[in-house]
Amino acid sequence: MIVSVIGGGGLVGSCAAYALQCGGVVSGIDLIDANADKGRGEALDILHGTSIAADQRIRAGSYELIPESDIVVITAGLRRKPEESRLDLIGRNVELFQTILSSVKLAGLKRDAIVLVVSNPVDVLTYLATRQLGLPSNQVISLGTQLDSARFRSLIADALKLPPTQVTATILGEHGDSMVPIWSAAQAAGLPLDKFPGWTANTADALFAKTRGSGAEVIKLKGGAGFAVGLAIREVIHSIALDQKRILPVGSLVNGVYGMRDVCISVPSVIGRKGVESQIEIELSPKELSGLRNSAKVLRETIDMVLAKNPAANTSTSAAKPSTAVAPSHAVKVTMGSGGSTGSARVTISGQRGGGRNG
Ligand SMILES: NC(=O)c1ccc[n+]([C@@H]2O[C@H](COP(=O)([O-])OP(=O)(O)OC[C@H]3O[C@@H](n4cnc5c(N)ncnc54)[C@H](O)[C@@H]3O)[C@@H](O)[C@H]2O)c1
Repeated sequence: MIVSVIGGGGLVGSCAAYALQCGGVVSGIDLIDANADKGRGEALDILHGTSIAADQRIRAGSYELIPESDIVVITAGLRRKPEESRLDLIGRNVELFQTILSSVKLAGLKRDAIVLVVSNPVDVLTYLATRQLGLPSNQVISLGTQLDSARFRSLIADALKLPPTQVTATILGEHGDSMVPIWSAAQAAGLPLDKFPGWTANTADALFAKTRGSGAEVIKLKGGAGFAVGLAIREVIHSIALDQKRILPVGSLVNGVYGMRDVCISVPSVIGRKGVESQIEIELSPKELSGLRNSAKVLRETIDMVLAKNPAANTSTSAAKPSTAVAPSHAVKVTMGSGGSTGSARVTISGQRGGGRNG
């Protein structure tokens, strides 16, 4: 499986490539960057480690590599300034993103290629990619709240002195200010998080606030996020490459899930070789549900603003019309209990098609 990273000479792109090298799962990593020397430099540095890390083919090049790619990751884009919201970035990044989409289309994607959008504001740019690339909407994925959820779990573990990989907690909605913490399903080692020593409502509020501000904090301290986002990207790519069908908080076009329509937003999604294989509608608390719908409203308003201001962005190809979203027919309903005092998690999944393995 060959992964190309557009923006591979940048911080996010090169960290994603390095994470993929350390993972040793994909067979090839291609770095594409407008700054050709930077792309070549990062590719060369990674290639030098192949004899230690994995038998992978590492190349730098331009968009002519796209037709060979099974997964195309788009990380090219301008970074946020510390005081800038991700949505403020939209004006500066839409034009650049349109150029990238045109170059990708001109080069020609494989019919079953998966496109993973990382550039911000990621949910809005993913919506544009879904409309314009001519791929079925399940093949266009936003990194969404995958990184936010990873940060959330790591910060919870750090604060409560828990093993980070045993914390399961999710953030859904916009990768941005309106993101929603799903406390109702948060656990550590299968036990409800709110029953752990040291847990209080104030701790929860402070941890979520810290998570939501994490991106800006990292930008302020070191210029931009790299390592954790690289790992977050890798988890999505490995789930596709290995057809793992992991349930990940990534974004894609939704049409009906939680009553949301015609917007790319993060809901629990089963990720396999076909991309977003289904979107899962777990039972949320009323506060979480209204937060999620508010996120969809914020994103929809931004999409409307972008489409009004950018006539070029307002064209859609027939294969990717929002109304053809994979979501409604594949959506499944899940009720999830946090386990109560016995600590045994109760999860019921109904309506799932295709008998996939949910990792
Ligand atoms: N979704 C997330 O969770 C998440 C997390 C961190 C950063 N980001 C976003 O990722 C994007 C990249 O951040 P970064 O820190 O890597 O920035 P960066 O400036 O380090 O890298 C961007 C790279 O894109 C390249 N580029 C620009 N135009 C190009 C084009 N047309 N074709 C190919 N390459 C092109 C640049 O030369 C540069 O090397 C930003 O939009 C940032 O906000 C998203």
